[in-house]
Formats: sequence, C-alpha cells, structure tokens
Amino acid sequence: MTQKPTEHANRVRWVYASQDNTELEERYGHWAKEYDRDIIEKFGYVGPRVSTEQFRLYVPRNCKVLDAGAGTGLVGQELYRLGYRDIEAMDLSRAMLDEARRKNVYGKLHEMVMGGPLDFPTNYFDATICVGALTIGHADAEALEEFVRVTSSGGHIVFMLRTDVYANNGFREKQHELEFSEVWQLVSVTDPFQALPIGEPDMYHQVWTYMVK
Ligand SMILES: C[S@@+](CC[C@H](N)C(=O)[O-])C[C@H]1O[C@@H](n2cnc3c(N)ncnc32)[C@H](O)[C@@H]1O
Repeated sequence: MTQKPTEHANRVRWVYASQDNTELEERYGHWAKEYDRDIIEKFGYVGPRVSTEQFRLYVPRNCKVLDAGAGTGLVGQELYRLGYRDIEAMDLSRAMLDEARRKNVYGKLHEMVMGGPLDFPTNYFDATICVGALTIGHADAEALEEFVRVTSSGGHIVFMLRTDVYANNGFREKQHELEFSEVWQLVSVTDPFQALPIGEPDMYHQVWTYMVK
C-alpha cells in the first residue's frame, strides 16, 4: 500500500520515485486535484510557460499539436492563450486527464503510455510538445522515437529536460543518434533554467527544439 505524502511532503520527488507505470499512475491519481495549486505555489513551476515560449517561435497557430504527458493541461492552457486551437492531450493518468478536460482547451484527450508504440497514425500531428514527462520514473528516451513518427516531416518537437537526465539517462545518446541518422535536426536549445525555482532550485532544465526531416 503506497502512502500518500503529507501536505508538506515533496510530491515532485514522490512521483520521481515511482517504480513502474502502475505506481506512477496511482501517485498522479492522488495528486491530480491539487497538482496545479501545489506545483505553481509551492514549486514556482515555469516549465509550461518557458516551453511554450520556445514552441511559439517555430510552430504556426493553425498546426495540429500533440501535448504528450499533458497532465492537468497547464501546457495546453498556455498554448490556447497563445492562439493554438487544435491541441490533443495524451497521458497515462486518467485522473490527470480528467483535470485537463476541465480546462476546455483540448479537442481530444487520449489515455496512452509513452515509451512504447503510440496509438496515433504516422505523421498525424504537425508538432509535438512534452513538458515534465521525460524524466526519472516517467517516460524514457525511447519515447522520442514515437514523437518523430507521429510528427510530420518539417514539423517541430519541443521538450523540456532536466540537464542531469539529459546527461545520465540516455537522452544525449538518443538525441545524437536521431541527429546522426538524419531523422531530425536541432533547431534550438535554451540555456539551463530553474523550472521549479521555489521547491527544487537545484534542478536545472533546458527546452530542446528539433525539426523532423
Ligand atoms: C510532472 S507532470 C507534467 C504535466 C504537464 N505536462 C505539466 O507540465 O504540468 C508529468 C505527467 O506525465 C505523465 N506521464 C509520466 N510518464 C508517462 C508515460 N510513460 N506515458 C504517458 N504519460 C506519462 C504523468 O501521468 C503526468 O501527468
């Protein structure tokens, strides 16, 4: 039986410590209703804003967008504010997607697991964004392969990644492999920044943008 953390416990570390997708789903299930308030007020989360600021530089407003690991829809909300109207959410947690649905910014919401094959046709989206879901205890670097498959040629893939996860968890190798095999090309990468400046000031993140060839 997994213990729900007390109000003051660090729920970011709690979800990172998940051993498998069942535990991850259970933990997000506990957190879903309080996630927005918690992550914004206690952690000062800026991931969705910084990532969508990059996204808007490259992706036209009329594009069909996949928000992968959409959670409660904070990224979709930012995209909607920026003028995007064709956004689909995907996440393994039904409870998180239930919160996302309430935001009224997604055309469709899909319960799906990243890391293996995604149940979308090839080239289905014009762009993919993924914020806060490619990390320890969440989706691994293999997820990038499917982002490439479901994103059409010339489309962009934008994702936020912790600097230590990039260096130590297979992302650097996978990103280089996709570049060397001319599957995608690097468009930009931000300087490291604190995505959770209040709760986790020592964690640095970067936003990576690639164009599918
Ligand atoms: C920290 S939240 C980020 C949510 C949102 N993108 C944001 O920035 O607020 C991580 C989300 O990724 C989802 N997630 C983690 N691993 C996943 C996987 N393998 N497949 C699909 N969703 C996953 C979790 O359920 C959770 O909703």
